Amino acid sequence: MIDGKTKTCALLGNPVEHTLSPIIHNTLAQRCQINMVYVPFLVEGSQLRQAVEGARALNMLGLNVTVPHKSAICPFLSEIDKEASYIGAVNTLVSTPEGFKGYNTDLTGLHRALLSEGIQLSGEEIILLGAGGAARAAAFLCALRGASQVYLLNRSLEKAEAVAREVNQKAERDCIRAMDLDGWKQLPTKKYLVIQGTSVGLAPRTEEAVIEDKAFYELVHTGYDLVYRPAETKFMRLVNEAGGKAFNGLKMLLYQGVEAFELWNNTKVREEDAYFCYEQMKKELEEHEGQK
Ligand code: ATR
Repeated sequence: MIDGKTKTCALLGNPVEHTLSPIIHNTLAQRCQINMVYVPFLVEGSQLRQAVEGARALNMLGLNVTVPHKSAICPFLSEIDKEASYIGAVNTLVSTPEGFKGYNTDLTGLHRALLSEGIQLSGEEIILLGAGGAARAAAFLCALRGASQVYLLNRSLEKAEAVAREVNQKAERDCIRAMDLDGWKQLPTKKYLVIQGTSVGLAPRTEEAVIEDKAFYELVHTGYDLVYRPAETKFMRLVNEAGGKAFNGLKMLLYQGVEAFELWNNTKVREEDAYFCYEQMKKELEEHEGQK
């Protein structure tokens, strides 16, 4: 029921048609009995400043920001959370008396998703695949949450080296080591947590995995793919076939939303409500698949 007391939150992005965020937030609002609605707004880069000022003028409670605005929006914020400022990208804005404060719940959401599956980062040796936007946030997370060592493997070694340098410097730890995609062949033979952060395997190129060599998968005790379309990526299939545990990135998406919702409403979402939301997201994805 929308009434005179309804608070508004929105997603700014381009494109936004396929977003699952309205399902997350409108479901959570209903389950938590919070009078809030969430809508997607298609915003051009050239209109970003006006969009932020407009949201302030309309007394909106908060915003999510997605591709391609996560870094470009930073100059228009009154404050940026410390970890988000390391990454140089935000996905959640919270209204404060001074302006919007930016957070990165992609990072905290990934951590919560991993913990919800019983996956620890602290003290772990991790292989991280990729050095783009998603993998870079994961590299910060691993460094900031106490991973003992991260092997950052990427097709372009220079990009991996740049990310490793930056993360090591900002986290003030020397824990990330850059390698090319064959780097795993030099690693001690044991089992690792592997986070798949490249865009390889993403629908519609579902028959690809960033590393195809089956010997690699013998090193994996747990494989966490940041991709969630399709629900089972080829990377996940290869992990499963080699006897490891595999997860897709849908819970990361869920928990980045849950964390944003908690920041906006100063509340704590119950696990059963988060799980209900997760089921709704899966249903939506399955219906979407069915329509193809
Ligand atoms: P995102 O924001 O989703 O992380 P991105 O910044 O474009 O997207 O990064 C894509 C990642 O997937 C990069 O690590 C990229 O490797 P390069 O840095 O070498 O480009 C990786 N990637 C994309 N296509 C690939 C392919 N065919 N083989 C190997 N890696 C690939």
